[in-house]
Amino acid sequence: MRLWIFCLLVFCSFLPAHLAGQLLLRGSLSDQIESRTQELQYQLNTLSKQLAKAGYLDDQNVVSVNSELSLLSDIYDGRIMIVDRTFEIIKDTYAIDEGKYNVSEGVLRCFQGEASSVYSKRAQRIQIILPIYDAGLAQVNGAVIMTSSTRVIENMVDSYYEMAGVIDLVMLICAAFLAFFLSSLLVRPLKKVTEAINKAAFGDMDLVEVKDCVETERICGAYNQTLTRLKTLDESRQEFVSNVSHELKTPLASIRVLADSLMSMEEAPVELYREFMGDISDEIDRESTIIEDLLTLVRLDKSSTELKVGQISINEMLELVLKRLSPLAQKRNIELVLESFRPVVAEIDEVKLTLAVTNLVENAIKYNIDDGWVRVSLNADHNFFYIKVQDSGLGIPEEAQGKVFERFYRVDKARSRETGGTGLGLAITYSVIQLHHGAIKLYSKEGEGSTFTVRIPLIYIA
Ligand SMILES: Nc1ncnc2c1ncn2[C@@H]1O[C@H](COP(=O)(O)OP(=O)(O)OP(=O)(O)O)[C@@H](O)[C@H]1O
Ligand SMILES: [Mg+2]
Repeated sequence: MRLWIFCLLVFCSFLPAHLAGQLLLRGSLSDQIESRTQELQYQLNTLSKQLAKAGYLDDQNVVSVNSELSLLSDIYDGRIMIVDRTFEIIKDTYAIDEGKYNVSEGVLRCFQGEASSVYSKRAQRIQIILPIYDAGLAQVNGAVIMTSSTRVIENMVDSYYEMAGVIDLVMLICAAFLAFFLSSLLVRPLKKVTEAINKAAFGDMDLVEVKDCVETERICGAYNQTLTRLKTLDESRQEFVSNVSHELKTPLASIRVLADSLMSMEEAPVELYREFMGDISDEIDRESTIIEDLLTLVRLDKSSTELKVGQISINEMLELVLKRLSPLAQKRNIELVLESFRPVVAEIDEVKLTLAVTNLVENAIKYNIDDGWVRVSLNADHNFFYIKVQDSGLGIPEEAQGKVFERFYRVDKARSRETGGTGLGLAITYSVIQLHHGAIKLYSKEGEGSTFTVRIPLIYIA
């Protein structure tokens, strides 16, 4: 990542400046050649008129013209040749080709009245050919050829290129330094976050705070949220495991005490054996109930838990629950009443919801006073059905109300043990209602009884 940022910064800062420089230099060479060509054309034009006027094609001993020719060739570092109508070179400022003939394409075209100018980069020169007209400007009598060196211009532009190369190098070094500095600055906060996350991988679950920039703050925020959730999960898992082992050990410890005391007696009466064996059997039942409840909870906890949803009459379901529990209520002369305000049919998992409601009604009986009452009511509107389980029992103290749905939580441990509770019933009820996308609420006052209300959608939302 850092390398990428570095390359990007170098690329973005250096390349545009380098390209702009190259374009300017290239433009500068063609501009200078162009202006030199125009200047030469102007000078030759004047010369051509002067030559015609002085009759130079017939007499080359005109001093003023000759000195003008040598002056021009000196100024422009060039060579001027004059060709007459027989294509003979009658004047060469280099005095090399005089008397020779020039029938080049440019000269031939010139005699047809066509001036030409050619720049040759390879030969580093500009060649201009202009016609020399007669006095009436009707006929081309000769041609004036000028070849001017462009070496000075090219050398100057070359030196510009060399300078640009040095500037490029300096710029590249500066850009690299700047990019190195900026990329370190950008990557540093991310490095800190990575280090902190790596620490967590080795068990150091501290929250991370890197406030160098908004982005890292956000990453840290999201990471801390996940970490806190993981910590909570880990704590609740540890608590759950210790609770489970404690709960599973309790019946086993009782069995061991009962069995040890029987074994220590040499001749125990048969009645005592029976009584102790009965107690051992009760403890085994208790152990199986705990294991069964735990397995139910584990199954409900799985994210893939699927409900076997069907169109179920809730009235019939509640009647069945109350019928099953009525012997328990009768034992303590507790009145069990069902109030159905309307027939309700809803999409639910019958087995699971029956278990949830059974837990509620069973609690209402278990934590009730003798000769008390339990009232179960059913109502519905367009979207939900409502089950209310009300009792005249002991009630739940306010500080315990938020905890009763936790696993293994019991208000009065001694009493719950007496009634055979493990503290898993309401946790199971809560999970089942959650799976149905419903809600459960508790209203209670110590000594005045409790009311649990359940709200579940009539149509199951998958
Ligand atoms: N209707 C109620 N009236 C008073 N206390 C209640 C009532 N329902 C639940 N509680 C309290 O909440 C605790 C948790 O209930 P929960 O049903 O989860 O466990 P449990 O009844 O102890 O055991 P089990 O797993 O056998 O149901 C109970 O131990 C009891 O103290
Ligand atoms: Mg219970």
